[in-house]
Order: sequence, then structure tokens, then C-alpha cells
Amino acid sequence: MLIDDVAGAVLREPPIFPPSAAFSAQAAISGMDAYRTLCAEAERDYEGFWGRLGRDALTWKKPFSTVLDESRAPFYQWFKDGELNASYNCLDRHVEAGQGTRVAVIFEADDGTVTNVTYQDLLQRVCRFANALKKRGVQKGDRVVIYMPMSVEGIVAMQACARIGATHSVVFGGFSSKSLNERLVNVGAIALVTCDEQMRGGKALPLKNIADEALAMGGCEAVKSVIVYRRTGGKVAWHDGRDVWMHELMQAESDQCAPAWVGAEHPLFILYTSGSTGTPKGVQHCTGGFLLWAAQTLKWTFDWKPSDVFWCTADIGWITGHSYIAYGPLALGATQVMFEGVPTWPNAGRFWQMIERHKVSLFYTAPTAIRSLIKLAEADIKVHPDSFDLSSLRILGTVGEPINPAAWMWYYEHVGRARCPVVDTWWQTETGGHMIAPMPGATPLVPGSCTLPLPGIMAAVVDETGQDVPDGQGGLLVIKRPWPSMLRTVWGDPERFRKGYFPDDLGGKLYLAGDGAVRDSETGYFTITGRIDDVLNVSGHRLGTMEIESALVANPLVAEAAVVGCPDETTGEIVVAFVVLKGPRPEGTEAERIANELRAWVGKEIGPIAKPKVIRFGENLPKTRSGKIMRRLLRSLAAGDEITQDVSTLENPAILDQLG
Ligand code: WTA
Repeated sequence: MLIDDVAGAVLREPPIFPPSAAFSAQAAISGMDAYRTLCAEAERDYEGFWGRLGRDALTWKKPFSTVLDESRAPFYQWFKDGELNASYNCLDRHVEAGQGTRVAVIFEADDGTVTNVTYQDLLQRVCRFANALKKRGVQKGDRVVIYMPMSVEGIVAMQACARIGATHSVVFGGFSSKSLNERLVNVGAIALVTCDEQMRGGKALPLKNIADEALAMGGCEAVKSVIVYRRTGGKVAWHDGRDVWMHELMQAESDQCAPAWVGAEHPLFILYTSGSTGTPKGVQHCTGGFLLWAAQTLKWTFDWKPSDVFWCTADIGWITGHSYIAYGPLALGATQVMFEGVPTWPNAGRFWQMIERHKVSLFYTAPTAIRSLIKLAEADIKVHPDSFDLSSLRILGTVGEPINPAAWMWYYEHVGRARCPVVDTWWQTETGGHMIAPMPGATPLVPGSCTLPLPGIMAAVVDETGQDVPDGQGGLLVIKRPWPSMLRTVWGDPERFRKGYFPDDLGGKLYLAGDGAVRDSETGYFTITGRIDDVLNVSGHRLGTMEIESALVANPLVAEAAVVGCPDETTGEIVVAFVVLKGPRPEGTEAERIANELRAWVGKEIGPIAKPKVIRFGENLPKTRSGKIMRRLLRSLAAGDEITQDVSTLENPAILDQLG
């Protein structure tokens, strides 16, 4: 662990933005006293607190009598004897309450076409697709992989799985056939839901072809059905018997399908994410605890009200799209915008134009998107947020990576016009929902800080032995008590779950987030200082350095590779690869040619998001005498920093000149 990388980080004197009196007055959590009361309730009676939230937020077929079972820690169980259905909670209960004509999703396609889908309509579509899945032999507990673009059909597929108790695993549409294959195999999928082509920025991407390639790679013979959503009508290869059109299946089915009641701990989904080994891990979430937190956090962090129009720009292939598109907003009966395209097409004013058009009140996006739009807006007033009517906005949110104070201020001033609180939400695939985030009607905001833990979340900063470090000193971010939406295990690898997230070094009881953090000594506010493991964060996407390294060394030209991150103004970090070829070290145009070949290779092996931006060739890598690659040295080289580290243990100091 690179604890000394974050130790001693000091907070500057930052500006503070308390909520306006008018905002606080209308907010559900209307001040720090209300926040503290909730925190005190959780401290006083942890199970009572969570039990109350669980009963209030969700509709249970069978109420739970146990809130938390710690007997198999760290395999904690929440609400375990309760029974419910996630799809019932997201759809039926709103329709039953007379809200069927309420708009659930305002879908804006890449080309600007808008479709409104009501709760009633969504429920019928989900029922039809759930019946179709059953007809294709999908049963409770089976795994279905969803490789879909941003689409209402993507939500339908996820909700339909939940309805019949099948466990979905959504694979981001930007992943390659090889990554898709690995996930299909690891999760043991029996069905795959995909799409002919995905439309982004005016371009079609052939998802079905990629899916065919993935299936042909073998190991996933259990996949008996490939269900294809027809988005563009583009040409696709067809395997009779295996491949079926989604619309044909749905037409043939009834729009009624009784929800399968499942135990609260029933696996709702598995989502693969990167860790510090070469293989991604299947983070498994359950039904009850996950859904509770996805809904509750929207009420707290976004002060959600029925009159709001919520828009989360994340993809359904990431956790943010699970918690804050496919489940949380629907569980509340919210109206949300869903967008198929990209923020820069047909121009960089697309987000602002859509906020204006759909009267979005709660907007949630990633710092990288903000930073790239700042540049483009400053260069062209036509795409500047100042040129749009953004008066519908109430709250702005960010997620996925640290937001630098300058980008925060621009977002606050130009998008929020200095009236909308900016909620910087820290959380992870593993946590299921927001963990450290402001309550917009209560928490005074400090740009660059995610502020305080949500009520019931016992966050702390500790040293490598698990002892609390004094405020103001950097350390490891941990969560001291289990919470309902925590991951339940790593699919098929419970030991990796236990060792990785509840390491013995820290006493085996603390959840280790994998991030460094500092807590301010005056305010108690948390600032996240970045990952402490070998995980990179590029444009808010999590990438494992080891995954990219294994992809590189799988190339026949490559003998050795080491991958590190390098800070970048727009994307947070970029991927930098140091590569040793089997042949001689290439130079000039030859080096550029091989670098491009390797980039394309990584794109094929993992997906375009993992392509190294910079590739440097050396005859060797900097290693200690015992053969360990000196990654910290590589990070300094990548950043162009002066080497201040001790290089006396370096076996081959001359290599620094080659790689620098
Ligand atoms: C980083 C995304 C700073 C962090 C929801 C975490 C953040 C990783 C923030 C999880 C934030 C997320 N400030 N860093 N507000 N939010 N991160 O699993 O390093 O894709 O561990 O979940 O993103 O990424 P993941």
C-alpha cells in the first residue's frame, strides 16, 4: 500500500458555500441539526435506524424481523428473512398507487428524438420481456448478461431479470469481445441480451457482431439465447435457434407477469469492476439492501421530490447507471431523463440544451465531462452554459473521480448560476450507493471535498494497522460498520472478497475502500486523495494496471510491460505504458508504428477505454535487485517529475534515461 503517497496531504484554506436559507427551508434535511439527528439515531440504535429506513423506503411482501445478521462476518446479511421484488418496488407499486400515467423515462436518442415512457408502459414492457425470458428457460437464480447501449430496452432487460429473480450482469458497451467473453464465462450466463448496433455521436457501433465474436471464443456454451434489440436495423449475422429479436419475443407475450418474491439477500446483479489483479472481479449485490440505499440516497443527496426531473448521465454499464438510472429513481417513482448519445455531439452544448429542453432539476455527471465541456465552452459561446436557460436546475452532482476546485467552481457558477448546491458524491461499485456526500440543504460545501458521511455510514481514516489517524493526516479510507448496500461477495471467489475488502492487516473487520483520504481537523470533512492500489481512474472509468499489463504481454511482440497512471487536466489520469519488446528497442517512426499497433491490441483485448495514451519503450524496466518493478519511479517518469526517490536499490539506473 502506498500510504506514504497520501500521508501528510494538507488541505488549503478553501471557500465555503453554505446552503441558502431558501434552499434549506424547502429541503427534506433542512440543516445540520437535522443531519446530526439522523447520525445520532444511527449511532444510538444502528439496527433500529436501518430497520426504519428499510421499512419506509421499500414495499415488502414479507416483512423482515432481523435487520442485520453478523454471524458470518464479513459476509453480512441484511433484512434476511424479508421478501420483496425489486421490479415490483420500481414499477407495480407506483401504478397501484395511481401513478401509471406518470412519465418514468424521458428518453433522448442520439439524433435528438424524444420518447416518453410512463410507469404503466414500462411495467407492461418489463412483464412482456420477463415472460419472454421465462419462455427461453431463464429461471430464478440464472445469470443473464446484458450488453446493451443506453436505451429503455436496457432498463427493461434489467428490470425483467429482477422480476423473475434472475441475476443480471451488465457489460458496458465499450468493452471488447474478449472482455465480454471473460464475463460471460465467469458469471456462467445462460442468456445474453444485446443490440444490433449502438448509436453514439452519429456513429453506429456493431454490438451484435462483437457479441458473436465473444460467444465464438468459447467457454460460454451455456448461453442458449441471444436476444437482440433492433436499434438501427443494420445488418447482423444470425444464428438460427440461438438468436431471437427482442421485439418479436415481446409481441408474443402477455403484459402481465407476477413478480417472483425473493429473499432480501437474493443476488440482484453482478457487476464486474477492476481491482489490483489481472482479472476483473464480479461485485455481487443483493436485492433488499441495494434497493433501499439506491432510493434513500437520492432522497438525501439529491433532496429528491416528486416534482423533480432527474438526469444521471452515466451509462447503465457502470454502477452509477445501476443505482441512479435502472433502480433508484424508479424505486422512488421519479421522472428521469436518459440519454443515448455523447455530450459533444452534434456540439458541446448538448447537455445544456437537454437540461433546458427537459427542464432538468437534478443533474448528475462526471468531473471529466465537466472539464472537457469547460474547454469547449470557453472557446465557443454558442456551446457555453451561459447561452442556455438552465433555470430549472436545483442541484448539481458529480461522481466517479475527484473534482478539482476550479472545475467545481465553474460548474457551480456557470451551470448552477451560484444558486444550486454541488454535491460531490464519493462511493464505489462495491458500496452500491453514495457513502460520503453533502446533504444539499444542510452541509456547507467546500469545493474538492465530498464532505461528510451519510447518516449510518461509519467512515474513517486509518493507518496500515487499522488504527485511526489524527485528523489532517492522510491514511486509508475505511468503513467501520457494514451497511445494507455493500457488496455481498466477489462472484465465485469469496476469499478474494474477504481478503481484499476486509484485510487481516487492518484487523479483518474494516471495509477497505482502496482510496486514500484526509479528514479536516476543523470540519471533519473528507477529501479523497486517490486510489492506494493499482487501480487507475481515467475519465471516471476504473481500470486495473495489471489488466492492461496482461493485455500488453499477451501481444507476441512484447516481453514485459508496466502500466502506471499519470495526472491529466481533463481525464483525471491517463494510461502510460512502459514496454520492453522481445526484439530491439524501436525508435522514431518505428516506435510510433508499434505503439499504435499495441494500442489497437489493448482496444481489442479490453476495450477502447483501456488504450494507453502514452507508450514508452525501453530495453528494460527499472527494477530492484530482487526483481521488483519500481512503480513509483515509473509514475514519476510518466509525470515528467524530477526523480527524488531513493534509487540506490535500482539494479539498472541507466534505464531511467531511456524511459524518461
Ligand atoms: C473514485 C463509481 C473522488 C474513487 C461510483 C473510488 C471518487 C472509485 C469519487 C470508484 C469522488 C468515485 N471523489 N473519487 N466523488 N467517486 N471516486 O467503482 O477512487 O467506478 O474508489 O464507482 O472512483 O469507482 P467505481
